[in-house]
Order: sequence, then C-alpha cells, then structure tokens
Amino acid sequence: MIGIDALGLAVPDAFLPLAALAARRGVPEAKLTAGLGLHAMAVPSPEDDTVTLAARAAASALARGGVSPGEIGLCVVGTETAVDHSKPVASFVQGLLGLPASCRVFEAKHACFGGTAGLMAALDWIRAGSARGKKALVVCSDIARYGIGTPGEPTQGAGAVALVVSERPRLVAIDPETVGTYSRDVMDFWRPLDRSDALVDGHYSVECYLAALDGAFDAHRALVGEAAARPGYTDRFAAMLYHVPYPKMAQKAHARLRARDGDDAPEVSFEAKVRASLALPRVVGNVYTGSLYLALASLLATSGGRDLAGERALFFSYGSGCCAELFTGQIMPGAQAALADLPAALTSRRELTVDEYEALFQARDAARAPARAPSGAWPRFLGVEDGKRVYG
Ligand code: CAA
Repeated sequence: MIGIDALGLAVPDAFLPLAALAARRGVPEAKLTAGLGLHAMAVPSPEDDTVTLAARAAASALARGGVSPGEIGLCVVGTETAVDHSKPVASFVQGLLGLPASCRVFEAKHACFGGTAGLMAALDWIRAGSARGKKALVVCSDIARYGIGTPGEPTQGAGAVALVVSERPRLVAIDPETVGTYSRDVMDFWRPLDRSDALVDGHYSVECYLAALDGAFDAHRALVGEAAARPGYTDRFAAMLYHVPYPKMAQKAHARLRARDGDDAPEVSFEAKVRASLALPRVVGNVYTGSLYLALASLLATSGGRDLAGERALFFSYGSGCCAELFTGQIMPGAQAALADLPAALTSRRELTVDEYEALFQARDAARAPARAPSGAWPRFLGVEDGKRVYG
C-alpha cells in the first residue's frame, strides 16, 4: 500500500464574499454564486506568499500525522506562483521546517498539475525503493491572481495543501498502476515571466480541461482493462474528485465523465459523489495546484454521517498548458475523523470589503523593506533585503 498519510491546509485569514464583488462590478450575484458555484474567495495579505502558505500547510500536515521533520526524505513543492526564478519554494520550506540535509528538495511547475506531478514523483520514489523507510512531503501552494475587473477575477483564491506520502497511508491508498495521463501543447492559461497576474483564454480553457478529462479517462480505462470499458464503470466510486478552478467546472466535468460512462442524468450522482468535495473550494476559491487536494480535504471533512471507510474514490488533476492525470484510490478508516476539524478553522477568517480587497491586491506588488516587528501567524513574509526574501 502507498498513498496519502496526512494532510495539512493553510489559507489566508481574510476572505471576500462574492456577493459584494458582484455588486461592485455590476454583474448579477447569481452569475458568480449559481453560474460559477462560488460563495467567497480567500484574499492573501502582503505578509502571505507561496512560501508562508506552503510552510504553514506543511507544518500542519507533519503535526497532524505525528511525523517529525527528520522522517522526511523528499520534499516537493508544486506551484505556479513561485517567488523566485531559481531558488525553489521547497528550499525555503526546508529552512523554515528544519527538514534534514539528506532530504531531496525541489519545485515542480506545470500550472495546476505541479502538485500532482509532485505526488506522482513521491509515489514512484517510494515504489522504487529510494525512500529507505523515509516519507515524502508534497506541498501544493499558490496565490491565484487574474486582475481586477477581468472575467477571471471572481475565480481567484489562495492557499496550500500539504500531503505526507508514505507506504502506510492513513488517509488514502492510491493505485499507482492505473494512472491515466493526457498532455498536449495548448495556450489556454499562462503567466509570462514578467507578470504577477495570469492571462487566460477563459472559455477555451474550459474546453481544454474537458478534452484533457476525456483523454485521461481513456488512458485510465485502457490500463484498468475490460471492466472499465463497460458502461457504469464509475458507479463503483463513492466519490469523484476534480480539479476545481470554480465549483461549476467540477460539475461540468462530472457531467462529461458520467455521459462518457453511459449516464444521461448526472445530477443524482453529482449530489452523492461530488457535492461534499466542493464545500471548501466554494469558500476558498481556486488554489491552483492544491485544488484537487482541497476537494479531497473537503470530501473527508464535510461528508458528515456518511462512512467512507474502505470506499473507492476517483481523482482528476488538470494543469493548463496542458497535462492531466486521472487515478483512483481507497479511503482509509479514520480518514474522515482525522480532518473533521478543518472547516472550523475557516470560520475565524476576517470578512473584507471590496475596498480592502482592492487595497491588498495592489499592496502585493509593492516592493518593501522587511518589517522589523513581525507579529501574528508563523511564518510571515517580511520584505526584501539586498534582493533576498526575508521570513520571520
Ligand atoms: N444567473 C445564473 N447563471 C448565470 C448568470 C445569471 N444571471 N449569468 C451567467 N450565468 C452562468 C453562465 O450561463 C455560465 O454558466 P455555464 O458555463 O454553465 O453556461 C456561467 O454563469 C459563467 O458565465 P460566463 O461564461 O458568461 O462567464 P465569463 O465569460 O465572465 O467567465 C470564465 C467565465 C471563463 C470561467 C472566467 O471566470 C475565467 O476566465 N476564469 C479563469 C479560467 C478558468 O478558471 N478556467 C477553467 C479551466 S482551466 C483550469 O482549470 C486551470 C485553472 O485552474 C485556471
């Protein structure tokens, strides 16, 4: 067995309700809440960046799993919003968490697929025997930014999800032999090196996502064999988890996948297999690389009285550009109880006005000297000194 042993989540402590954004931008509130399926988006402060969110999520995953930094032999950070063109976020995380010098540390970039690329590298590393008893730490961390007034604006968000990967998984055992892969060179979403906001061909990106879902599903089915070729194959999964740039995209993906599987009325299975995974994404927004794993956290934390122990789940990861993978796994006993407290952590977030959100958005771009009196959550980005980022 091999898979996800512990999970930690970090989100900024402020959010913007999308009803307020809709009113300010002059669009119907229902377009954002019903049309995109969103309720709120996490808004990072200038003291939050991809490193601080990654370190917070990673520390939480280690604490939740009872794993000490010395047990980690591989640390991969998947991100598409790195803080440096050369130094990986993973090195900052290593320093902040005190990971051992014997740890292999690197960053993985492929838009929102970078976290899954890290997870697959970790699974292969363990399966190949290179782990020698150690565990892997895979962190997905991003700040999703499109620009004020753009169609992508309501689909922003920020957060990190960290996964401890081991050969004794306590959350989800993953089936590595049936990972279906699809990739293609497309220009649906990108961020030139000199820009902090992403550029996107929005409607085309939806088409690319769905085409990649088709391709990855075909690849997965070819690996599973005859059983997966028969209509109704996906009935066996109690949960179907998707990359969630916004919840309506997951709903579209589910309808597409179920139609491919012979189901013309996907609403019933959407309620049973997908709805719970969208509760946290709906109030956090897009967290890019961590999005699929936020959906997993949401499923485990909000499925309430429904016992998922031993049930099978299907996972679909998409990164623009593009690369996608579809894989399956089994939910372990105790996984739901382990994450049941996650939603409560979001209730203490501070609600922002649109003016406060816009001021924070602009403040992110301002270069500044390190603050000398850091306070609040650990760690915080303090500023830049001699071209070096300083954390405290
Ligand atoms: N009441 C209810 N629903 C309404 C409505 C109203 N008054 N007005 C519009 N809607 C519905 C529309 O019918 C539409 O639903 P369907 O897609 O089911 O038809 C939905 O609201 C959105 O409306 P539009 O398509 O007109 O919205 P838009 O053109 O302003 O932008 C978007 C939508 C293209 C997704 C845009 O938000 C965007 O560019 N987002 C960023 C890109 C993105 O997330 N792409 C997803 C695939 S790529 C990916 O997954 C990688 C990643 O993380 C970025």
